[in-house]
Amino acid sequence: MHELLDDAARRAQRYLDGLDDRPVFPTEAMRARLRDLGGPLPAEPTAARDVLALLDDAASPATVASAGRRYFGFVTGGALPATVAASWLATAWDQNCFTSTMSPAVAAIEQIALGWLLEVLDLPREAGGAFVTGATMANLTGLAAARRAVLARAGWDVDEHGLQGAPRLRVVIGAEAHSTLRKALGLLGLGRSAVELVPVDAQGRMRADALPALDDRTIVCVQAGNVNSGAFDPASEICAAARAAGAWTHVDGAFGLWAAACPSRAHLARGVADADSWATDAHKWLNVPYDSGIAIVRDAAALRGALSISAPYLPQGAPREPGDFTPESSRRARAVEVWAALRSLGSRGLAELIERNCRQAERFAERLRAAGHDVLNDVVLNQVVVAFGDEAATRAVLARVAADGTCWCGPTTWGGRAAMRISVSSWATTDADVERSIDAILACAQDAARAGAT
Ligand SMILES: Cc1ncc(COP(=O)(O)O)c(C=O)c1O
Repeated sequence: MHELLDDAARRAQRYLDGLDDRPVFPTEAMRARLRDLGGPLPAEPTAARDVLALLDDAASPATVASAGRRYFGFVTGGALPATVAASWLATAWDQNCFTSTMSPAVAAIEQIALGWLLEVLDLPREAGGAFVTGATMANLTGLAAARRAVLARAGWDVDEHGLQGAPRLRVVIGAEAHSTLRKALGLLGLGRSAVELVPVDAQGRMRADALPALDDRTIVCVQAGNVNSGAFDPASEICAAARAAGAWTHVDGAFGLWAAACPSRAHLARGVADADSWATDAHKWLNVPYDSGIAIVRDAAALRGALSISAPYLPQGAPREPGDFTPESSRRARAVEVWAALRSLGSRGLAELIERNCRQAERFAERLRAAGHDVLNDVVLNQVVVAFGDEAATRAVLARVAADGTCWCGPTTWGGRAAMRISVSSWATTDADVERSIDAILACAQDAARAGAT
């Protein structure tokens, strides 16, 4: 094991050292050796060091350099050094954090990390929480608690009787709700499209003045951070209306919830803490390795009620059994990395990370605008949406930026226009990386315009 883990550490170090000098998206040549990983399943064993060498030689070059400093695709954080190291150690532990008997260490770490999360996100300190794979599952988890609680108020036990014959629930979402929220609703039997859609403004914010009349059979889904524009639904108004009507408010804050951890951006999340449940990702802006999402529910008993099970072989009685709060039973110890991120950054370090990325997004917008390109959103957070003329011209720039390899940004459509999405979410991105990336994007835009004109 010693030699093998030393070799893994050396290879990982070499990989990370090389990220700066390679194309962010792998070229075809870099992907060519992937086929070496396949072929018929060998009948005989292979030495672990040879397995590792093959994996590194064939797959490392073909990875996307999202752990590096100039990846601006989707909403992708890097992984803070303490979280990579903690993750390695936790992998060596190989704990199952289903119950506290299976892992007293991870059960304790979950509880500590959850307490710190509630503090930095400024959510009710008594809330319950669950460490899940990502925001999709965190939405599902929060909405499972919502579905159960709202139906219980209507006198229906959904755990026992399911949805067949249940009183009808109403679900209200903004027209710009994330597609994975609809997926969670579908999985819960509430339907991806059986929702009341609230129109949005030009930034994608739900219009509070267009909310339908709410009642105590309604779940309202607020978005904190639109995946394109970064805009926040007006949570204060929506939560107040929901509270007055006895409705449940759920917040999808996959990355936007982290604004609450940064004093200069916390105003964006105003009112979010008035909701009943929240979903967020640690693998986005907290910069822990994949996969890591968190569901939080104000009424811990509502979350526990929706997800706990009992069996004679499962010990009961600990103050918090991790598996009572999650859809999964056996799980890896992903709270370890959340703990390590928060412990290494501290609340000040986290606020600085959020602020730095927001400032870097503003810098992208400033220079792209100054060069005559159309920044389509109000850059309030870490997201920039920019068009380089018509659809064909924008697609041409995106293709050139991907081929150039200095950085990587994804495509989208916003306000009916094809656009480039730039999401600044990594602890590793320096101001110099931002300038270098903007230089590369502007050069690609010039080349594309020249090629288009000829
Ligand atoms: C607002 C929002 N909700 C949900 C998700 C889904 O997150 P995950 O892929 O971690 O499940 C995303 C991903 O970008 C998002 O931006």
